[in-house]
Amino acid sequence: MPKPQELVAGIDRDRLKKMAEREARRFAASRPRTKAALKAGAEAWLDSVPMHWMKDWPMPFPMVVDRAEGARITDVDGYGIDDFCLGDTGSMFGHSPKPVARAIRKQARRGLTYMLPTEAAMEAGRLLTERFGDFRWQVATTATDANRFALRVARAVTGRPKVLVFNGCYHGTVDDTMVERSNGQTRTRPGLTGQVADLTEVATCAEFNDLASVEAALGTGEIAAILTEPVMTNSCMVLPEPGFHDGLRALATKHGALLIIDETHTISSGLGGYTAVHGLDPDIFVVGKCVAGGMPTAVWGLRPKVAADYLAYNAGRPSGHSGMGTTLSANPMQFACLTATLAEVMTPKAYAHMEKGAERLYSGLKRAIEAHGAPWHVVRVGARVEFICAPGPLRNGTEASMAHMPEVEATVHTALLNRGCLIAPFHNMMLISPATKKRQIDRLVTAFDEILTELLPET
Ligand SMILES: Cc1ncc(COP(=O)(O)O)c(C=O)c1O
Repeated sequence: MPKPQELVAGIDRDRLKKMAEREARRFAASRPRTKAALKAGAEAWLDSVPMHWMKDWPMPFPMVVDRAEGARITDVDGYGIDDFCLGDTGSMFGHSPKPVARAIRKQARRGLTYMLPTEAAMEAGRLLTERFGDFRWQVATTATDANRFALRVARAVTGRPKVLVFNGCYHGTVDDTMVERSNGQTRTRPGLTGQVADLTEVATCAEFNDLASVEAALGTGEIAAILTEPVMTNSCMVLPEPGFHDGLRALATKHGALLIIDETHTISSGLGGYTAVHGLDPDIFVVGKCVAGGMPTAVWGLRPKVAADYLAYNAGRPSGHSGMGTTLSANPMQFACLTATLAEVMTPKAYAHMEKGAERLYSGLKRAIEAHGAPWHVVRVGARVEFICAPGPLRNGTEASMAHMPEVEATVHTALLNRGCLIAPFHNMMLISPATKKRQIDRLVTAFDEILTELLPET
């Protein structure tokens, strides 16, 4: 008797396995120099790579990059790949945008770090306000740090201990946010390395799109701040339902908590990020990754009232370390790159191109999914597009976690790469940069369609 067909995300498991094995073999066989390069340097690094998540890509071993320019990345085996990962947003405006590369060359002749401002710093502050709104800014090096500092400020000015985050969120490696919701209760995420603190003492976890769970948490009077992305982009993508953000704003105000909006990924939404495009009103605004064109930089800004409260708090706190800031943050290279990006890269024209390309990608992927009858869907936030190997739309982190199909995703990612397209690891995210060409988008759609044709041949 033939064995019953076992389906995963609508795909026959045996067929998926066959493709996964073949694509992995194909990747490995075509990259002798990559393999040799990794082998030669492996011993010096902990677990053979300089950053552990380089091993989290779905290929048998990571690509070793020779160079990248615009929306193309070339590996040491000479393969030129259309890059839709774009450093998971760090290079959302393309690799080495020309104004940023120019700014780097110029600043490199004048020193790299001095713990003092430059004239460009003053200009960067003005441009940040012009682009993102009336905030009082500080510079950090990573969005993780920017979120950490924002949380410190929120606790300082409210005198409350906890942050409210959403199940399935990611705001960088900020310890306080590493909680999840299980059976209606907040708990520390079980996989955290070496975490000995009980994070439920400093964080509460609610469900996205569920204002009742937010209000219940705020009602305890313990919440200093709600920290959220406008769209959940770090699980399978979850869009806010109509009224959700207005509800968050109103509840935060009613209960005396601050609203921190982390735009690190949703800066893909358009000029000024999701906040400007959709008229949000955060108390604290955070953005990192691509804000300085790929130079490690993040910024956090306080509304004038929060800034005044914070300065008053600061004036009265005991002297000594504040626990805020890092030595290399707010260095002249960051100011030069911030200024170049804000003035010359993050332009209406660039966003118009990104939006148009992302719509083309969104429609192409959607068409392929529908043509093959896959029980999948596609979501888009400006220049950010994601296919999800489950039906949608998703409402919250719990649904997003169930929609994640690691086996299917890994196979599709590797198969796409073997067809010349790189998409983000961990989830199925693709970005359109100002440098991305129509033909690159069409190649990705064609490759995706070809993969689905093999995985779902009966349609
Ligand atoms: C929404 C959001 N905030 C913050 C971060 C942290 O950024 P970084 O790793 O640059 O600190 C990330 C990283 O993916 C993110 O997605």
